Amino acid sequence: MSALEIRTVGVVGLGAMGSGIAQLAIEAGYEVVGREITAELGEKARERIEHFLQRKVDKERITAYEREAALGRLELTTELDRFADCDLVIEAIVEDLDAKLTLFSVLEGIARGDAILATNTSALSVTEIASAVSTPERVVGMHFFNPAPLMPLVEIVRAELSSDDAVEAAYAVGERLGKRPIRCHDTPGFVVNRVLIPLLNDCLRVLDEARISPEELDTAMTAGAGWPMGPCTLVDLVGIDVHVHASEALYEKLREPRMAPPPRIVAMKNAGLLGRKSGHGFYVYE
Ligand code: 3HC
Repeated sequence: MSALEIRTVGVVGLGAMGSGIAQLAIEAGYEVVGREITAELGEKARERIEHFLQRKVDKERITAYEREAALGRLELTTELDRFADCDLVIEAIVEDLDAKLTLFSVLEGIARGDAILATNTSALSVTEIASAVSTPERVVGMHFFNPAPLMPLVEIVRAELSSDDAVEAAYAVGERLGKRPIRCHDTPGFVVNRVLIPLLNDCLRVLDEARISPEELDTAMTAGAGWPMGPCTLVDLVGIDVHVHASEALYEKLREPRMAPPPRIVAMKNAGLLGRKSGHGFYVYE
């Protein structure tokens, strides 16, 4: 499947990342099939996309007509069977290897033989995910950053058995989505998370070492290091559960102490303080 032939994109999982990817794809002119496990969750994703497109209309970045046309390209489903006609399927479900392996093995039986299967995993191995299918050459990583509609980067991850065609097609899709793609190999954390996860963990350790508040730490890193948002705000945005999982996955693979999640944030995860999505993390949200 070459990039030019990709017209219909499937997105599995319409949480913060999946809905952002679906938004990008409909704005870029692709027909999109988005799948959630319940119709209610699908509708929540549609409302989120409608909201952000409306903000773009309000700010005169797109016209009302373009918003309607984009939304018209979004089909929601709860059935994986609807991916049978997709040229590219991007998985953005929970960061759980078993769940992803099961999904990819089911997808292989549904998607056309020449369809590209991509994973948006943050810290799992794309090669391991590809081991669920008998045609691993068509599996690649397409790692978007939160919030996907705003962050310019997408890492196009080559797994051990990915074909050149699949990697190049995914790269071209990234460009058509308006991103700045980079190609990289399937190493733990790829490029950005390999650097960012231990850095954020250092930031969180400093909270206790320097006896400062999350607000003070955020001020330190925005006003003193030029970060666009402070580390506590960022971890709340990414999701405390997602950050803990990525830290644990990298620690398991690399055994570097800085990769391990600080106990404070593991306790927050265990207490259900997950950041923006739960309404409470380092900060409280309306
Ligand atoms: N989806 C779509 N549109 C969104 C959005 C979202 N989630 N969030 C905001 N927007 C839109 C809104 O319409 C907003 O305008 P509005 O307030 O008028 O409605 C518009 O974007 C601009 O929002 P902001 O005013 O908040 O924009 P900023 O200029 O403050 O920039 C930012 C926001 C780009 C998020 C910036 O703060 C930033 O770069 N932060 C760092 C984020 C980062 O590092 N992300 C990477 C996390 S790591 C990761 O994702 C890897 C993973 O594997 C864990």
